[in-house]
Amino acid sequence: MAPPQVVTTVAQVRDMIAQARSAGKTIGLVPTMGAFHEGHLSLMRQARADCGCVAVTIFVNPTQFPPGEDFERYPRDLPGDVAKARQEGVDLVFAPPVSEVYPPGDTTIVEVTGPLVECLCGPFRPGHFRAVTTVCARLFNIAGADRAYFGEKDYQQLLVIKQMVRDLQMPVRIVAIPTVREPDGLAMSSRNSYLSSEERKAATVLYRALSQAEREFEGGERDAAALLHTVRKMIEAEPLARLQYAELRDAETLEEIRKLDRPAVLALAAFVGKARLIDNVALLPKRV
Ligand code: PAJ
Repeated sequence: MAPPQVVTTVAQVRDMIAQARSAGKTIGLVPTMGAFHEGHLSLMRQARADCGCVAVTIFVNPTQFPPGEDFERYPRDLPGDVAKARQEGVDLVFAPPVSEVYPPGDTTIVEVTGPLVECLCGPFRPGHFRAVTTVCARLFNIAGADRAYFGEKDYQQLLVIKQMVRDLQMPVRIVAIPTVREPDGLAMSSRNSYLSSEERKAATVLYRALSQAEREFEGGERDAAALLHTVRKMIEAEPLARLQYAELRDAETLEEIRKLDRPAVLALAAFVGKARLIDNVALLPKRV
């Protein structure tokens, strides 16, 4: 069969990775929840460029959806995803059942604590980052990857994963990939499929607001409150959008920033209809 090989058990993944490794290949891992769009594919493309063996995991991790979230209706399309992975030259797709990632009776979690998880999405999605680190630690362990690819679109997730890898001295290098956007600027997301056509148009306000703040920043504005005011005002003016948060934080520590004198991230979350969308831009003051 033409690649990718689609496997569902840990034993199969280990076997294939061991073969690739003994052939001297570096292993690149792309963890996903499936329903592929160009964002996911750009991670695969970079992994393909960097590594001799590319493994993609497709697992809608039940534990990272706090109660009341969209676990049940999260989009799933394994055959479509496998076809897209094939086009990207992926070698291995791991699409396990829940019991393969969480063996019956398991009681172990991996949790990053402190400021990185206490801000932005953290308070609004209790237990979410703990579930993401737990599943990623398990996937890294299963696949034994040299590199793992994550999108900057989920900026807080990226930082939390990097912290886990650093703290636990995991032998994997985390590679960050820039956010891929629709032509009108909306960040690609599996959750965009929840939007009606009216909501889809309204959703462009998120990136328009971030871009407007970015322009003000480039024009010399360094006051966080002024930039956040711009973002909030624009989103509040869109009747179909409901802002959950918009914040300016240190790009590495996620500490709150009042004056933009160091690299920062301007991040937001908003509901458009039933879809909870997140987006962010980096604001990088030029060093003098
Ligand atoms: P998922 O939402 O499927 O995203 C998988 C990867 O694709 C993540 O690293 C995410 O940041 C990246 N990604 C999503 N949209 C992107 C875009 N528009 N541009 C660039 N990259 C994008 O994130 C998860 O799954 C899960 O939390 C997971 C890490 C797999 C753990 O379950």
